[in-house]
Amino acid sequence: MKLIFSPASPFVRKVRIAAIELGLIDKIEFVPITLAPGQTNDAYVRDINPLKKLPALILDDGEVIIDSYVIVEYLDDLAGGGKLIPASGPARWKVKSDHSLLQGMLDSMLLCRYEKMVRPQGLRWQAWFDDHWHRVWQGMARFDKQGDALSRPIDIVQIGLVCVLGYADFRFADCGWRKAYPNLGAFNEKMLTRHSVKVSLPPAA
Ligand code: BEZ
Repeated sequence: MKLIFSPASPFVRKVRIAAIELGLIDKIEFVPITLAPGQTNDAYVRDINPLKKLPALILDDGEVIIDSYVIVEYLDDLAGGGKLIPASGPARWKVKSDHSLLQGMLDSMLLCRYEKMVRPQGLRWQAWFDDHWHRVWQGMARFDKQGDALSRPIDIVQIGLVCVLGYADFRFADCGWRKAYPNLGAFNEKMLTRHSVKVSLPPAA
């Protein structure tokens, strides 16, 4: 299998952590690509993902799987199922719903990054930035109160959450999430003792 990736992407980091935790990392060849707003990236958009998002997993038979959640679910299935995403029952729906919240938080963080650091100064829209950052902040508040999500054995929610926090440190270093959310701070420290989380940290900003 080949994973098309960018080292800075928190969505890619999620898949990388999952692959290590599932014991599948050696089965994946990592293929770097640079996708940027304003660049056409014609071949990628035509052959891999018309949405121009990362990561994408290319299977040995040429089939393409897009979306970090779907890729993690595929890898989980390959590893026997039910390892990072509960296979059935109420826990499955809770984990999927919590993960959707985390995915939305990452989407909003990316919009904030583009608004604050990429869009030309005169075109920036502060209210749009504030609205999306508020979503991220409220999401963090919700997880800070979820003792069970922070302390149970590793799953896709914990992986997604550590990717949100890592991306906050990477691109919004002065946002102060540790001070506002001490339970998340403790959770992050505990997660950083895992090899998968440590080796996948974003590159120096
Ligand atoms: C970043 O540089 O922040 C970034 C790069 C790729 C995907 C998402 C974010």
